[in-house]
Amino acid sequence: MRVLIACEESQEVCKAFRQLGHEAYSCDILECSGGHPEWHIQGDVLEQLDKEWDLMIAHPPCTYLSYAATKWWNDKGRIWKRLEALNFFAKLWDTDIPRICIENPMGCASPTIAKYNQIIQPYQFGDEESKRTCLWLKNLPELKHTKIVKPKIYGYYKKGKKKGMPIYGNSYLKFSEDRGKIRSKTFPGIAQAMANQWGTVGGFTSPEGDFSNEKEHNRNLKENPTDFPKSDSPTSLNSDIMFNKLKMLPSD
Ligand SMILES: C[S@@+](CC[C@H](N)C(=O)[O-])C[C@H]1O[C@@H](n2cnc3c(N)ncnc32)[C@H](O)[C@@H]1O
Repeated sequence: MRVLIACEESQEVCKAFRQLGHEAYSCDILECSGGHPEWHIQGDVLEQLDKEWDLMIAHPPCTYLSYAATKWWNDKGRIWKRLEALNFFAKLWDTDIPRICIENPMGCASPTIAKYNQIIQPYQFGDEESKRTCLWLKNLPELKHTKIVKPKIYGYYKKGKKKGMPIYGNSYLKFSEDRGKIRSKTFPGIAQAMANQWGTVGGFTSPEGDFSNEKEHNRNLKENPTDFPKSDSPTSLNSDIMFNKLKMLPSD
């Protein structure tokens, strides 16, 4: 399968597809940090959309779309940035690639361009983090949870309106530097699930075998509760990087 991972510099999803033998490429205006420049196209992804892909998974920038940024919604100039971001999202969605997944936080792309199909959390795929992420799917099944684990709590709010409430990694990042970049990394468990489950859709076979793993999925769902708290802000993280950053607990 020829797979384009749009707006990905970490190569997390690209490498998961490559591990199964697919011809996957990440594409980002930035250099890749995933260690495989031979699988990376550095440049504007809009110029790559007509290159005969079987599947595209896209992670377009969410800064001007996400509802997490409503505090700045009406700032001067923001409206044009929002329209530009929506335009980019729409171009990714409205291509002739037969199977598409766009990943983004809850935001204005849903009412404007298309309704998202699914909301996922890293802790439903074996990573102990809470981070709500919407998936827009075209000709792809919803992603099945692979391993439900309990999300880590990093501390508790000590004052303010949220006093006593748990702090998840996602909230903690409000207090750290490099927040934007860390927050946008795709979690390994979600990347693996995408490759395992979507690498075989449409009659494609994974050169490394069938990894859709129905039995394990069903067993995990039985054994693990699903009523974990909802995170209030979305997108994905690379837990390794994040754990290195999270040395101290915030005072609030
Ligand atoms: C929200 S981040 C997604 C990061 C991704 N989840 C990862 O693990 O690398 C959005 C990415 O889109 C990239 N980007 C923005 N405009 C782009 C364009 N026109 N073509 C390709 N990539 C673009 C940014 O450089 C950024 O890395």
